[in-house]
Amino acid sequence: MWRSLSILFTVGALFVCLSFSKTVAAEAAPAGQKLFLDNKCTQCHAIDALKIAKAKSDKGEEDEEASEGGKKVDPPDLSDAGKDKDHDAAWFSKWLMKEEKVEGRKHKKKFKGSPEELKTMSEWLTTLKFDAPKKKDGGGKKEKASSDE
Ligand code: HEC
Repeated sequence: MWRSLSILFTVGALFVCLSFSKTVAAEAAPAGQKLFLDNKCTQCHAIDALKIAKAKSDKGEEDEEASEGGKKVDPPDLSDAGKDKDHDAAWFSKWLMKEEKVEGRKHKKKFKGSPEELKTMSEWLTTLKFDAPKKKDGGGKKEKASSDE
């Protein structure tokens, strides 16, 4: 009798533990990451380090990319987006609102969410300090950053 009760108790405790750890895991995915997915940033960007894949590109986005300034710039993988110490949350907010430039270019997409969401997303972007994924194709000419800094 006591034996079966204690088994029941153990099983119960285990169950509580399991469901608890599940909740923690769900909360561990940061709000910024959710916003990133919800705002379809994945149409152009992957974040390899977080196993966030770029969505299958549909036409139209391609056109938009090609049209700006004539020069086509591929959207970078954002695994290491937060590594640049000059790019803090405030910088990302401006960048996403097309108020800030990188090498004379503005971002492709203006952020459509609320100011709070912009803040959450920007702060989250600063946490992306992983190693950038290795380029798979070594074929094409790669422009090395020139040393005119
Ligand atoms: C239409 C395609 C497109 C979409 C959608 C898009 N981006 Fe980008 N993004 C780009 C391109 C292209 C660049 C490279 C800009 C350049 O260097 O000229 C870029 C660059 C960036 C950078 C790098 C800035 C740096 O440090 O140099 C960040 C961060 C970024 N995007 C975040 C986002 C977020 C967050 C979203 C969703 C709200 C988003 N992007 C949606 C195309 C896109």
